[in-house]
Amino acid sequence: MSTVIVTGGAGFIGGNFVHYYLWAHPEDRVVCVDKLTYAGNLSTLAPVMDNPNFRFCKLDICDRDGIFKLFEEEKPDIVINFAAESHVDRSIENPQIFLETNIIGTSVMMDACRNFGNVRYHQVSTDEVYGDLPLDRPDMFFTEETPIHTSSPYSSSKAGADLLVQAYYRTYGLPITISRCSNNYGPYHFPEKLIPLMIANCLNDKPLPVYGEGLNVRDWLYVEDHCKAIDLIVHKGRIGEVYNVGGHNEMKNIDIVKLIIKELGKSEDLITYVTDRKGHDLRYAIDPTKIHNELGWLPETKFADGIKKTIKWYLENRIWWEEIISGEYQNYYDKMYSNR
Ligand code: NAD
Ligand code: DAU
Repeated sequence: MSTVIVTGGAGFIGGNFVHYYLWAHPEDRVVCVDKLTYAGNLSTLAPVMDNPNFRFCKLDICDRDGIFKLFEEEKPDIVINFAAESHVDRSIENPQIFLETNIIGTSVMMDACRNFGNVRYHQVSTDEVYGDLPLDRPDMFFTEETPIHTSSPYSSSKAGADLLVQAYYRTYGLPITISRCSNNYGPYHFPEKLIPLMIANCLNDKPLPVYGEGLNVRDWLYVEDHCKAIDLIVHKGRIGEVYNVGGHNEMKNIDIVKLIIKELGKSEDLITYVTDRKGHDLRYAIDPTKIHNELGWLPETKFADGIKKTIKWYLENRIWWEEIISGEYQNYYDKMYSNR
C-alpha cells in the first residue's frame, strides 16, 4: 500500500486523476493538497470525500511549514504535482502568482521530498514549454528533445519549474519524472478554457468568442487518457526522464467551436471573432513515440467520442458549472471579454 500526495486535486486534471487513481489502486491512500483557488472546486471531489482511503487538505504548496508538517504526518511514498495557475490569459494579465505557485510551489514540494527520504516526485508539465510550431509544417512535432522556447508567462513559469525539477535530479538525486501533455478536455474542466466555455455559452445562447481567425491548432486529449499516462509514468517510467503525452488529434479552434454548435443544435451566428490573444501560440503537436515504445501508452478515447461524452457531462452536471459562472467568475468574464 502506497500513500500518494496529489496536489491540485480539486482542479480539472488533478480531480479526474484522484477519481481514476482511487478506482485503479483501491489499496493505496490518496492525500489531496489544494489551496482552493478560483479554479479549485470541492464539488469535484464530492464523490470521493467519504472514501476511507482519501484525505483532503486545504493547503498552499508554497506554504513550506504546512507542507513539511503534512509530510511528517503522512509519510508519502509518491508525490504528483498538478497544482498550478494554469490559464494563459490570466498569466498575461497578472504573471506574479504564476511564478509563485508554479515555480516556488514546485521547489517547496521537492524540498519536502528531499527532506523526508527522497520521496518519488512527478511533475505534471505541459507541451507549451516547447513554444509553438508553424501552421504550414504538418511534418513537425514536439519531441522530448525539442528545445524549451516559451511564449507566455504561464508557459515560462512551467518551463522554469521543469528546469528546477531536472536540477533537483542532477544535483540531489531526487527520483523525478516529468510529463508534458497537450490540451486536455473532459468532465470538470473549468469554463474559462475553450471547450467548456463554448459549451456553456452555447447552452446559454451567448456569443462564442473566437480569438483572431480561429485558425490556431491544438492537439486534444481526453483527460482520462492523460491520467492513465501519468499513472504509468509514476509506476513504470524511468527516473530522470521526460515523457511527452499527446493525442495525435490536431484541430483548429474554429472547427472545435463549429462541432460543439452542431452537437448542441445551435446556430453558427453565435460565433464572434474577437481580438487575438497576445503572443498566441500557433500550433501544438506532440510526438508521443517515447511513452508508446517504453510504456505501451496510447490514447484510447477518439475525439469524436470524447467530445460527445464531454458535452453529455456538461448537460447532466449543469449545477457544477452554473455555480461557477454565477459567482466571481462573472467579473473575470466581463473584464476579459467585454470590448474585446
Ligand atoms: P486547474 O487550473 O483546473 O487546477 C489547478 C488546481 O490547482 C486548482 O484546484 C487550484 O485550486 C490548485 N492550486 C492552484 N494554486 C495552488 C497552490 N498554490 N497550492 C495548492 N493548490 C493550488 O488546472 P488543470 O487544467 O487541471 O491543470 C493541472 C496541471 O496540468 C497544471 O500543472 C497544468 O500546467 C498541467 N497541464 C494542463 C493541461 C490542460 O489542458 N488543462 C495540459 C497539460 C498540462
Ligand atoms: O497545451 C496544454 C495547455 O493547454 C495547458 O498547459 C494549459 O494549462 C491549458 O489551459 C491549455 O492552454 P491553451 O491556451 O491552449 O488553452 P485554452 O483553452 O485557453 O485555449 C485553447 C485555444 O482556444 C487557444 O488557441 C486560444 C483559443 N481560445 C480560448 C478561449 C478561452 C479562443 O479562441 N477563445 C476563448 O475564449
